[in-house]
Amino acid sequence: MKILITGGAGFIGAHVVKRFVRNYPNYQIVNLDKLTYAGNLENIKDIEKEPNYQFVKGDISDLEFIRGLFKEHQFDGVIHLAAESHVDRSITDPLAFVTTNLVGTAVLLQVAKENWKADYSGKLFYHVSTDEVYGSLGAEGFFVEDTPYDPRSPYSSSKAGSDHLVRAWHHTFNLPVKISNCSNNYGSYQFPEKLIPLFINNIIHNKPLPVYGEGVNVRDWLFVEDHAAAIDVIFHKGEMGETYNIGGNNEWRNIDLIKVLCKQMDEKLGRDEGTSEQLITFVKDRAGHDMRYAIDAAKLMNDLGWAPTVTFEQGLSKTIDWYLSNQEWLDNITSGAYKDYYDAQYVNR
Ligand code: NAD
Ligand code: TYD
Repeated sequence: MKILITGGAGFIGAHVVKRFVRNYPNYQIVNLDKLTYAGNLENIKDIEKEPNYQFVKGDISDLEFIRGLFKEHQFDGVIHLAAESHVDRSITDPLAFVTTNLVGTAVLLQVAKENWKADYSGKLFYHVSTDEVYGSLGAEGFFVEDTPYDPRSPYSSSKAGSDHLVRAWHHTFNLPVKISNCSNNYGSYQFPEKLIPLFINNIIHNKPLPVYGEGVNVRDWLFVEDHAAAIDVIFHKGEMGETYNIGGNNEWRNIDLIKVLCKQMDEKLGRDEGTSEQLITFVKDRAGHDMRYAIDAAKLMNDLGWAPTVTFEQGLSKTIDWYLSNQEWLDNITSGAYKDYYDAQYVNR
């Protein structure tokens, strides 16, 4: 089987690529990534010499390039993760989200259809998406697979649109597809603009921790390796045409999560308890900030037997340990090629 994985130099994609390359030596894996600010070949260097692995630099929204890639490789499957993924950037630069998340997904669907339509057997287009497509919850309730879509940010609406495109190619052209919608991920190799790695890095360097609004927004956090395991099980055992929600039943108000993070950081850095909490700084709220996300993953758990493998405290501890042992990886981003962007983001708060 030859599989195209898009976005495999990013955070989640790197974990998925590594899992598939290592666990399935009979599969040929081609990792296609544009290497935007979020793509980093360091994230996948452990497997770059594996015989069943190949990296290709390119843009999913480039139709002729994608046509050429399919012609060369004759893929049987696609696992599509490439995306612009950060809500704050979607507020400052929404059009990049439309190009990559909407046009890019449509290009991949169209080229997969062109190549596979004569015989769809053994073929699969797996689209990786987010729970943010469902909108924002109040204090009660959970997102289920048939919760109506109600995206609010340019990021979530571009992902919602991409999900609709995938379903349209399934219903109109019979393209064999699967979709999963996952809650917030955390773990190693996450670009330090997202909450957890940003705050770990700031605590290391004694910089303020910018908490949006009052810190009362709720997110449902999943360890990235558990997300990769869910993608593996859905890719192999999920029903064709189906959607699966992925989440670890692990809701935290931002401020409570940040306090747990501060406590673990104090312990690991040998600082007095309470030191990191003093860095908490409440800043202007994000525009259109969704209040609460919470996933009901019962379908995935009951039908496919998936379950998360770590508790939040274990996953967070592993995550902090990874960033503390890989400070060069963090420094390369925050002081290297992306320093200007990183500093600008930071100052603007
Ligand atoms: P990321 O930003 O870390 O990585 C995205 C990758 O896509 C990068 O390597 C980037 O270079 C690549 N890319 C961007 N535009 C491209 C283009 N036009 N052509 C080719 N490659 C391109 O993102 P992530 O957090 O790893 O998210 C991966 C996927 O999972 C996304 O589709 C995202 O919507 C989804 N998702 C993320 C989360 C989360 O919490 N991070 C949760 C649920 C779903
Ligand atoms: P983020 O990691 O950007 O993920 P998402 O917006 O996709 O949920 O943010 C997680 C939560 O943390 C969200 O409620 C916004 C909040 N947040 C802050 O309070 N400060 C920050 O500096 C960042 C990046 C996020």
